[in-house]
Amino acid sequence: MFEKISNQLKKAEKIVFVTGAGISQESGIPTFRGKDGLWRKYDPMKLATIDAFYEDPKLVWEWYEERRKNILAANPNPGHTAIAELEKYKQVSVLTQNIDGLHQRAGSTRVYELHGSIITIKCTVCDFKDKIVSSFSQLPPLCKCGNMLRPDVVWFGESLPQDVWKSAIEQASSCDVMVVVGTSLAVSPANLLPVYAKQNGATMIEVNIEQTPMSSSMDISLRSSAASTLPVLVSTISE
Ligand code: APR
Repeated sequence: MFEKISNQLKKAEKIVFVTGAGISQESGIPTFRGKDGLWRKYDPMKLATIDAFYEDPKLVWEWYEERRKNILAANPNPGHTAIAELEKYKQVSVLTQNIDGLHQRAGSTRVYELHGSIITIKCTVCDFKDKIVSSFSQLPPLCKCGNMLRPDVVWFGESLPQDVWKSAIEQASSCDVMVVVGTSLAVSPANLLPVYAKQNGATMIEVNIEQTPMSSSMDISLRSSAASTLPVLVSTISE
């Protein structure tokens, strides 16, 4: 599977992963696009936007609470675990678009959450921010200051957390190998990160069950699932 680039993998010091919903699909969390994606049931454009939130905060909160319940019931899969395992052999960073926290639960220690986290909430007005520890008695929940709380996630039309984005660009621009896993690369600016890595001469690997706009510019683009492929990648490196 990786013979063609096994020397680059063994020589690599820094490996950066860019991950999307596809890496959590085998944990039972639906992706957004693709055949069984969330877009089929809900229209996130109607739910994952700041306008939708102020138009109907209860509906948006119900959607996130349903997703949060599913996510808390899900477990990391061998794809997440392989990335965490790789930290024993290489300097690894994970730039994830996912808000499910499964990379951290699998043991990855350097995870940049580009689109925020479903287990954190923040106030729409004051600077209150905290991890969600239990379910809410009412939706939308209110802050101590009396204003509405919101999921601490990045909605369409909102900018990414600037510190996280800056670090993500630094990571992408300074790695020897980039592995792009389970993302359609449909959403910017996250979909620029592989371009930064390629520009800096990184060896580019893609793991996705479908073709993406960057498949043809990868050194290796595997039409295979994250949970079955990433353990093979790690065993190739750790041999
Ligand atoms: N293994 C590998 N790839 C998979 C698997 C799997 N088991 N299952 C699905 N995929 C692929 C799909 O083929 C698709 O290319 O994962 C990709 C998932 O793409 P999206 O559903 O578009 O998810 P993502 O790229 O993370 O979306 C980016 O869009 O809706 C916003 O904020 C949301 O972070 C999200 C962003």
